[in-house]
Amino acid sequence: MAGLTQAENELLTRTGPGTPMGNLFREYWIPAMLSERLPAPDCAPIAIMLLGERLVAFRDTQGRVGVLDEYCPHRRASLVYGRNEEGGLRCVYHAWKFDVAGRVIDIPSELPNSRLAQSIAPIGYPAREAGGIVWTYLGNKAEAPPFPDFLFTQLPANRVLGWHYHQECNYLQGMEADLDIGHPGFLHAAAVNPLLDPTRRAMGTDRRPRAYMREETFGFQTVWGWKTEDPAKSLFWVDPFVVPFHTIVPAGRTQMRWIWHAWVPIDDHSHWLYYVHYDSEIDPDAEEKQRLEQAFGHDLIDPANDYRSRGNQANLHLLDRERQKHENFTGIRGVAAQDIAITQSMGAIVDRSREHLTSGDILVIQLRNYLLKTVREHMAGKPAPGQDGSFSYPDIDSRMQIVPSTMSLPEILDHPEWKWGDITEKSPA
Ligand code: FES
Ligand SMILES: [Fe+2]
Repeated sequence: MAGLTQAENELLTRTGPGTPMGNLFREYWIPAMLSERLPAPDCAPIAIMLLGERLVAFRDTQGRVGVLDEYCPHRRASLVYGRNEEGGLRCVYHAWKFDVAGRVIDIPSELPNSRLAQSIAPIGYPAREAGGIVWTYLGNKAEAPPFPDFLFTQLPANRVLGWHYHQECNYLQGMEADLDIGHPGFLHAAAVNPLLDPTRRAMGTDRRPRAYMREETFGFQTVWGWKTEDPAKSLFWVDPFVVPFHTIVPAGRTQMRWIWHAWVPIDDHSHWLYYVHYDSEIDPDAEEKQRLEQAFGHDLIDPANDYRSRGNQANLHLLDRERQKHENFTGIRGVAAQDIAITQSMGAIVDRSREHLTSGDILVIQLRNYLLKTVREHMAGKPAPGQDGSFSYPDIDSRMQIVPSTMSLPEILDHPEWKWGDITEKSPA
């Protein structure tokens, strides 16, 4: 079965201003960067690009964050050169000054009674911080949409460990890897075993997992099922996709239980991949942080190179041929590093009209169908999904459990008492 037509591929992968997918993404609050990039009041402003738009972010004297158009409305100088001083960012060309909302608050060349500053349209976008992330809304509605208050955005900071990667390929390639049930048993083989609960070995022994998808008001819910070494028991996980580009992956019992992901387009050839590990009960210590860094490859992130991984296409993502022979399937250390290597290896925007899909690609196909349907409906004037108040973000279910093999995937999803479970064994009530 072929993947997408070239026209469908274009439709899903282009997210700049005025594109259908770009218009859809601009209906939502989206992550702009980790808060750590603006470490203190009046620190250096940061150049960022989101959905193909050049922006500047800064933290003012009171600690508030502003996300502004990069270019000064006077004569279009870049505000990345600006001076961050006393409650605003000042352009260094002729010293116009902007507050966090992007309002002009000072034009030194004008007389004190000038009304010029008030007459200039603000250049800022709504911005707020939650879960260690700066979020922004790039749409044009007067009122910002509901905020995606995922559980991790409400937890104490010590129960959340977040990283982000500047990935050099289209956002959809990264996101597809997350719903690819066919790959963990190969790409991540061996690397996952020592790090997680031994029951996860099922992923390596059953290379033909089952999958089920059901549309929900927040996006869609998926259940993945693997046979274990005991034929009476199966391992499954519940792994939601949340509009427009988030998933919540269950990480097992022996570490922080959940990983929240986002794939945020920088432009059409690169995106931010977020990895936020969290748990409502566990306070990770320094050792746990180090373990996650090693296991996922987060220690390879280079903040000095705009948070790109030190593994890249030129060095084959640090592939070690000895490790490939003796330790794991890829020869690459780290689960995230393996996904990143392989999604970048496909080129900046993969030509999906040249694919040959199999049963293991079932959830990738369903993700594409969901996105195509959603963007086409949005083009026809239907409201963007996930904003009708019909669900609560912290309640979106994600879990990994062992259950009797006789249970069907929909039964598992709907079991009234199993929400928010861990990997412990369950039997039907
Ligand atoms: S271009 Fe910014 S103040 Fe003139
Ligand atoms: Fe993966």
